[in-house]
Amino acid sequence: MIHQPAMLRLVAWVARGQPWFGRMIKSAATRADVVSTFERQTAFSSSSHRPNLIAGDFVIGMESGARHSAERRLVDAQFPPATDFGLHAAQEARKRSDELLGGDAREFDLIDDYMVPLAWQAISGAFGARLPQLPPGDPMLMNLRYLGAHLIVGPVATERVQERARDSAAAVNAWVRSNIEPLRQAWTHGGFSPEREEVARNVVGMLWVGHPATAQSGALVMQELLARWRDPRVAGFVDRVRRHADPWADAELREEAKGHVLEALRLRPPFPILTRDVRRDTLTGAGGAGRVRGGTRYTVMGIGAMSDPAAMREPQVYRPGRKFRHEEDRYLMFGWGARQCPGRDPVVEILASALLGIVRLPHLQWASPWWRRVQFDGPIISGMRLRFSPGKTGR
Ligand code: HEM
Repeated sequence: MIHQPAMLRLVAWVARGQPWFGRMIKSAATRADVVSTFERQTAFSSSSHRPNLIAGDFVIGMESGARHSAERRLVDAQFPPATDFGLHAAQEARKRSDELLGGDAREFDLIDDYMVPLAWQAISGAFGARLPQLPPGDPMLMNLRYLGAHLIVGPVATERVQERARDSAAAVNAWVRSNIEPLRQAWTHGGFSPEREEVARNVVGMLWVGHPATAQSGALVMQELLARWRDPRVAGFVDRVRRHADPWADAELREEAKGHVLEALRLRPPFPILTRDVRRDTLTGAGGAGRVRGGTRYTVMGIGAMSDPAAMREPQVYRPGRKFRHEEDRYLMFGWGARQCPGRDPVVEILASALLGIVRLPHLQWASPWWRRVQFDGPIISGMRLRFSPGKTGR
């Protein structure tokens, strides 16, 4: 279902037009209702993520309050400037796309051959430089994928997915702890002096929440772009990248790439819906028109807010760099407010660098017919083969 954005948008559209339907399915689907639900953190709690945290406690599933704030401050302090992530990702994107251009293979897997190693380099390069390098295909990268798959479906996952995630959780925890001393030293700065277990818990969490989400997002962005390859906005961007000897060094092209990343993820958000635990009986919606019982779950249809005509003109149109009535809505795919993703700006930089390296490949297209274009492993994208032709002219 999370890979059916058009269907989710339709559900959100019905819920916006027929508020009784939104109340019946216990969901916020307008921009105003989504934002108000995100903002009422004590009534609508992020503890709904807890059943998915198979690798251990982590900030994403903590209730808002003193403990979350302290933990969030510690995590935030580990992020160098977002541009550092973009630089590390650019180095890897250039290396990988040069290798593809210079090699014999004309097909590659966007996930395993490109996004997975690139996301690892970018994330570990920027704040986890104390972790060992992981070559493509390393079991640890698969462990992160299996944990990511479990994050999406959690307790309703099949027994196989759950068992695999339990094994991966044990492996990632053991691996991070075996590298804990240099990590702890790196996390001791600026007044922070975290205990060994605090560091381990957060490194494990950041890796398995961040790495698969970033690798997946590269595939989601390309799904949107390839679907409109002839759209002048996409075609013009691709041509400009291909004509440039070093697209990563061009500030304007990088801004353009970021615009495409954000617009593509608006239409195909990696987490189109999020849930919240309802603490006690409470009113729902920005105007309090509905009511939901304590002890139940409430759904935040971020995808509804990102397609709400009250928030932007012609939401159905692909328009990179578009205007929003509220500028912060540009980043709604990363959540909102105090619980918004701390990886937001770094991830946008990483994905922009990655995109420049992909669209640079000449005559890029799907390698498989439409019904086999995207391979899934349970709820997570595990493969997406693309083809390019260095010898051919044209797009
Ligand atoms: C494209 C990639 C990513 C996307 C789309 C994404 C999306 C999100 C979203 C929607 C939330 C809010 C969840 C909620 O409100 O229930 C979130 C939270 C979070 N994300 Fe990300 N994320 C990405 C990458 C990353 C990375 C690379 C990291 C860290 C290295 C990270 C760490 C976190 C953490 C720690 C939280 C919890 C924040 C809190 O509850 O205070 N994410 N992310």
